[in-house]
Amino acid sequence: MHILHDQPAELYSTFRLKTRLASVIEVSCLADLVQLDTTAAPLVLGEGSNTIFLQAQTKPIVRFTGANITEHWLDEHSCLLHVEAGHNWHQLVSLAVQQQLWGIENLALIPGSVGAAPVQNIGAYGVELADVCAYVDYYHWQTKSIQRFAVSDCAFGYRDSIFKHQLAGKGIIVALGIMLSTVAKPVLSYQGLDTLPLNSTINDIYQQVIAIRSSKLPDYRQLANCGSFFKNPVISSHAYQQLQARYPAIPGFKLNNRDVKVPAAWLMDQQGFKGYRHNDIGCYAKQPLVLVNHGNGMAEELLALIADIQSKVYQAYQITLEPEVRLLNSDGQHYV
Ligand code: EPU
Repeated sequence: MHILHDQPAELYSTFRLKTRLASVIEVSCLADLVQLDTTAAPLVLGEGSNTIFLQAQTKPIVRFTGANITEHWLDEHSCLLHVEAGHNWHQLVSLAVQQQLWGIENLALIPGSVGAAPVQNIGAYGVELADVCAYVDYYHWQTKSIQRFAVSDCAFGYRDSIFKHQLAGKGIIVALGIMLSTVAKPVLSYQGLDTLPLNSTINDIYQQVIAIRSSKLPDYRQLANCGSFFKNPVISSHAYQQLQARYPAIPGFKLNNRDVKVPAAWLMDQQGFKGYRHNDIGCYAKQPLVLVNHGNGMAEELLALIADIQSKVYQAYQITLEPEVRLLNSDGQHYV
């Protein structure tokens, strides 16, 4: 166990607002976890690529840094990887691609740790974690023991899971089981991958995803950001048809007979937010859904921009944009 006191928050959030964290405790195994005083539930953090500290954090922060991987071959084609939560997600994808193991190549270059992946069921280019996740191992603060959740018990949804709801604040993810296959299963339906040949190799897809992401999304090491800031809203087909009558160009992706997902990026783009900047807080010029901090952004400025975006989008389309990013107050509570 490794305890760091009074840390700069910029080191622990890729949005890099300047504030302080009272303590960061790094644990790497069950023995470390059992020793932790968890009478008051600590705050859990991965690599900080989806968390913004709006204020100085008084709660202790726990990070699981164990990163071992064990391979279990279930038959000649199916490989179950048991991956500890502290492993970096993109490095895991790269490793799977090197070994020609199919399943997560579309999820290349997503920042963050393996342990954070199930919390919001990370997804991109037609694949989401739920498609390959076999189980999640979760350590409960109260019982001081690990429970294995089968994928069917994780309540995975669009950027959603049981870890955001019933289990929020109750413990920490320590490992995942990820089921991969030597059998080629290219998912090429998403725009940008649909131009690839059907017999594309795992490496072709991996490289294409990296190329698309690098061209559309800023690298947080160069320009601080937390990826997509809002979720893409899901509205009823009826509401969508009404909007289409007023805005014929509005894109929509039919999810089923009742629901349509509308790109938040389009709604924001139409309201003029692409490349918007006030002092050091703004929207990325190539993808307005990504809010950025040009260096010295302040929490108040970020909150003002969120309110401005939500109000303009609501006035025009009667749609409420919900943040996808976790915004935290001083005591680790969610701001919204
Ligand atoms: N669009 C615009 N203007 C723009 C950019 C996009 O109008 O400047 C519209 C276009 O209609 C475009 C649509 O938005 O077709 C969708 O854009 P894009 O394919 O870039 O994806 P997204 O919906 O903005 C989602 C995820 C991303 C994920 C990509 C690819 C959410 C909130 N975001 O973005 O995830 O990488 O699809 O699958 O679901 C993240 O969660 O941090 C993230 C980056």
